[in-house]
Amino acid sequence: MDRVEAWMTTSEILIRTKERSDSHWISELLKAKWASVRIVTRGRIHDATKLAAFLAIVNGSRAGLITYRVERRECQIVSLNSLVENMGVGKALLTMLERDASSRGCKRIWLVTTNDNTDALRFYQKRGFRIAALYPGTIRDSRRLKPEIPMKGLDDIPILDEIELEKTLGIHQTISPQ
Ligand SMILES: CC(C)(COP(=O)(O)OP(=O)(O)OC[C@H]1O[C@@H](n2cnc3c(N)ncnc32)[C@H](O)[C@@H]1OP(=O)(O)O)[C@@H](O)C(=O)NCCC(=O)NCCS
Repeated sequence: MDRVEAWMTTSEILIRTKERSDSHWISELLKAKWASVRIVTRGRIHDATKLAAFLAIVNGSRAGLITYRVERRECQIVSLNSLVENMGVGKALLTMLERDASSRGCKRIWLVTTNDNTDALRFYQKRGFRIAALYPGTIRDSRRLKPEIPMKGLDDIPILDEIELEKTLGIHQTISPQ
């Protein structure tokens, strides 16, 4: 990473850019949470270990990761994981990403989640994201690229569809973050 940023969100959560020494931890987290370091969205494979990322540090330990990519003034969140849920880690990572994306001139942040992930749908919508598109049945295509994608996901719901969420940045934003 050529940019070094750190932002203390509370007395307990520090958000910082990834460092070389985080590589092993990032790989293991991605494999544990997404069955591989490869994340497939919209028919495209992303090696999340090679992407820009922020880590959350809680009490000196790594507690969350957001990976992302910027293309044509749009920022795609490729993965977001919190290891200590419901204490603000996810929000802190997302807030940091929004600041970073704005500073890079991005007009839009977007991501793809799956139909089973009601936690993510709630989390993002409560923070100003809107559903931008529904891609019924496209996980079948994703599985061809990444056979590790399980048939069933959260709450035993069959994983079938991609859902694209987006948030517009800057003066055009109509919904305030929580
Ligand atoms: C979605 C996810 C990233 C959220 O992370 P998180 O660290 O739990 O997020 P937060 O703690 O910021 O917010 C979660 C909830 O905790 C609540 N919360 C935050 N701090 C709190 C505190 N100190 N006390 C009580 N509740 C708190 C928030 O209000 C929020 O509730 P809401 O969503 O109903 O508003 C996490 O559930 C996760 O890793 N999921 C699995 C991977 C995934 O699906 N990623 C997203 C798709 S890419």
